[in-house]
Amino acid sequence: MTKRVMLAGFGAVLLLAACWPVKEVSPPRYGQVMVEMGHRFELTGKAGGVGRFELALFELGEMEELLDEDLPRAALPRVGGTADFASLTAQFRKTSVPDLRKATEAHDVAAFRAAFGLAAQACNQCHQASGHGFVEVSGEPTASVPRTDPPAPR
Ligand code: HEC
Repeated sequence: MTKRVMLAGFGAVLLLAACWPVKEVSPPRYGQVMVEMGHRFELTGKAGGVGRFELALFELGEMEELLDEDLPRAALPRVGGTADFASLTAQFRKTSVPDLRKATEAHDVAAFRAAFGLAAQACNQCHQASGHGFVEVSGEPTASVPRTDPPAPR
């Protein structure tokens, strides 16, 4: 192969690489994922609490995706970044979410409300462990997420 042919080949490869669509590689921010988590948890509660189980199941599925795909690659927050996120996430994913799913699939409002309350406690546990205890999640399925009602007087 002559030098010129090799150079032309190399140039073609470079040109192709430059035109190739670039995939988004930057990780999501932790807070971004949590904004979506809050929204989906709120809808899960509002739907499941009144027996709109199909919507609740859909939102739960979206939460599972956030936990399985987005949180593990999210950039850790600047504040509280030393908390044990991996095990706190795993605990939430392996206990709270399956309990909620079970109650929702059984169309059992009472079990759903109980599981929702416990799941909210797990959210709060991680918020406290990571220095974000002020992001309070209510165990009441009709509440907005996070809580923005007046705090209890001290
Ligand atoms: C593994 C730890 C962890 C778990 C579990 C967790 N969170 Fe969070 N959450 C965080 C951290 C850390 C932040 C602060 C992120 C930042 O600094 O931007 C946060 C912030 C939030 C925020 C505030 C977002 C904003 O920027 O306004 C909401 C809402 C929220 N979480 C909802 C939830 C809900 C609902 C659950 C449970 C279904 C939950 N989180 C479970 C760690 C967790």
